[in-house]
Amino acid sequence: MDDLFPPDCPGFMHRPHWSAAEQAEALAAVRSVAEAAPFYVPVMPRSGRPFSVRMTNCGSLGWVSDRNGYRYHATHPVTGAPWPPIPPIILDVWASVAGYPHPPEACLVNYYAPGAKLGLHQDADETDFTAPVVSLSLGDDCRFRLGGPARRDPTRAMRLVSGDVAVLGSESRLAFHGVDRIYPGTSTLLRDWFPEGGRINLTLRRVTKPA
Ligand code: SIN
Ligand code: MN
Repeated sequence: MDDLFPPDCPGFMHRPHWSAAEQAEALAAVRSVAEAAPFYVPVMPRSGRPFSVRMTNCGSLGWVSDRNGYRYHATHPVTGAPWPPIPPIILDVWASVAGYPHPPEACLVNYYAPGAKLGLHQDADETDFTAPVVSLSLGDDCRFRLGGPARRDPTRAMRLVSGDVAVLGSESRLAFHGVDRIYPGTSTLLRDWFPEGGRINLTLRRVTKPA
């Protein structure tokens, strides 16, 4: 199985998706999400070390990390409130690219300030791996790293830009991936919200097996 990726990365797809106008609309929707469910600083299991990425969620389940581990949870860890619903413009992307007949339950919202990054990891906290992971980028470009299903597998780097969608499905569903760095100043999309710029990533996932 290790030989399947890279170089071919079957099940992985990356392409532009949102127009400039759609990016502005999606960002406004994400801003409303973050008003209801503010960004917070998650910490690593055990060590309690803070992530450099700030996080929030929308959807019936949100992905959270704290000293006790990674898991999905129905409420915000700081406010205790249920996560707001996933905005329709984001659900539409899932419907058009996921190839999966049920809606996503979780939309993780990551904010990368200049200098933030995310180490190589696997998205494996879900119970249904037949659904893909669908990821959207807004704001500054980043260098995304994609490997294979084992941590030791070779990796390749690619640039994700604002409006792009990336899908990890089928044989790439459990591929290790991470964000090496963002490229500050490559987009003005976030400027009114975050004067320092940065990048927002939206990760849509199905968590539970449909009944
Ligand atoms: C993630 O794996 O949670 C986010 C990936 C990204 O920011 O592109
Ligand atoms: Mn991930």
